[in-house]
Amino acid sequence: MQKEDKLKEIISHAKEYGFVFPSSEIYDGLSATYDYGQLGSELKNNIKSYWWKSMVQMNENIVGVDTAIFMHPSVWKASGHVDAFNDPLIDNKDSKKRYRADVLIEDVIEKIRGKINKEVAKGVKRFGDDFNKDEFLATNVNVLRNKEKIKGIEDRMRTSLESEDLEGVYNLIMDLEIACPVSGSKNWTEVRQFNLMFSTELGSVSGESAKIYLRPETAQGIFVNFLNVQKSGRMKLPFGIAQIGKAFRNEIVARQFIFRMREFEQMEMQFFVRPGEEMKWYEHWKDQRIQWHKKLGLGDDNYRFHDHIKMAHYANAAADIEFDFPMGFKELEGIHSRTDFDLKQHEQLSGKKLQYFDPEINENYVPYVVETSIGLDRMFLAILSSCHKVEKLENGSERVVLCLPPALAPYKVAVMPLTRKDELPEKAKSILATLKTEFNCQYDEKDSPGKRYRRQDAIGTPYCVMVDHQTLEDNTVTIRDRDTMEQERVSIDQLTTIIGDKVSMAELLK
Ligand code: GAP
Repeated sequence: MQKEDKLKEIISHAKEYGFVFPSSEIYDGLSATYDYGQLGSELKNNIKSYWWKSMVQMNENIVGVDTAIFMHPSVWKASGHVDAFNDPLIDNKDSKKRYRADVLIEDVIEKIRGKINKEVAKGVKRFGDDFNKDEFLATNVNVLRNKEKIKGIEDRMRTSLESEDLEGVYNLIMDLEIACPVSGSKNWTEVRQFNLMFSTELGSVSGESAKIYLRPETAQGIFVNFLNVQKSGRMKLPFGIAQIGKAFRNEIVARQFIFRMREFEQMEMQFFVRPGEEMKWYEHWKDQRIQWHKKLGLGDDNYRFHDHIKMAHYANAAADIEFDFPMGFKELEGIHSRTDFDLKQHEQLSGKKLQYFDPEINENYVPYVVETSIGLDRMFLAILSSCHKVEKLENGSERVVLCLPPALAPYKVAVMPLTRKDELPEKAKSILATLKTEFNCQYDEKDSPGKRYRRQDAIGTPYCVMVDHQTLEDNTVTIRDRDTMEQERVSIDQLTTIIGDKVSMAELLK
């Protein structure tokens, strides 16, 4: 299946089963805005819980906060977002479409990477088991030429972006002969900077003095509370503050479903460390975070690290964890070494000291910060797209199954009576009442058992419990496993343990 088709399939599955709906759909929707439905909100909550448990509850030196979306406007002046939170934009004069100039260039780089991958595939085909990928990548003439090309483009882009040389970015687009994907023309405007923050007015006062922003990242709520938390929690460095919350960006190219939205959720953690130790912690958190991802079992090959070409204005080292989305490898999470930039800036603008007294070295200093920042919606898309499978069955039919990690599945078990007669529904409901206190359960008595199983497969429910006539005689039920489709007869008393073992988050957190 083509990758674009896969994304379309995910979007339609998400809507059909109540995971994600276009926002304000009865008014034809609002671009790049989505609502999470009854199953989507459960899945989202479970992802949050996995993150929160592993980052906050499993780390004695990390605590969580929940700070306001609105903040004093000086926060965004200090953080650099008012002056530097810009995207370089370019318009195509024929299609009137607007693009991020750096994204157009990165698309070219991605195409060249595709050529390298094709060479590798040819090599595999030619040499079979004797194929040595590392050696091939280091010696093949075509690969080396394409690698050189990529390096040349990346170097030019980095130099231009870092020095705010927008003409240089424009010239690179011209030299690469990039055409508008819609009109096919190379008739471009110059490149301009565009600030991504949404603004609004506070209270009844209008004008510049009342202008406030919707936060473009949750991190600043953590920075301005650094001393509050450190003092009230008697925290000792190194320690972290975590937060999950909404962020807002007026994205120009908002597309690809929930991948890039104007209102989205972040799960961020700022880890405060002694100056000079930031690189050690940067490596530590890169390692911790990739492990967190891989434990979900979505496939290790779906992840790769990507070092930033253009560093954000606050960072001295930054890497993305990229995921193989239906649109290809794209950023899922960022790990940034933010230095002491933010705290120092807040000290300067607020006039308040934001320092830590380190008893071990008897010194006051502004801590350095290593940040991990993951988009919750992107994580949702990564899970949905990699778990959505269309399987051919032995009898020739097909089933759609969401192989969600059981701990994240919206429903853990569906309880069903075989028929609506002979007091089977009553028995099923009494089992449901017991299981409900432990797990999110669904009751389903409509349609044939086969159809009901398919419905649960499609929403990722790990177990189905079927109550039949034998249940009334010996208190046993059949329990069906979503992935193997095998059914086993067990006693009702065993259900909580069997289901609990499978859906517990404990394994993921070990
Ligand atoms: N505090 C650092 C920060 O905000 P970022 O790389 O700009 O860094 C962090 O954003 C993460 O937030 C990204 O890796 C991505 O997962 C998510 N994210 C950023 N912009 C987004 C958008 N428009 N829609 C959905 N998720 C987004």
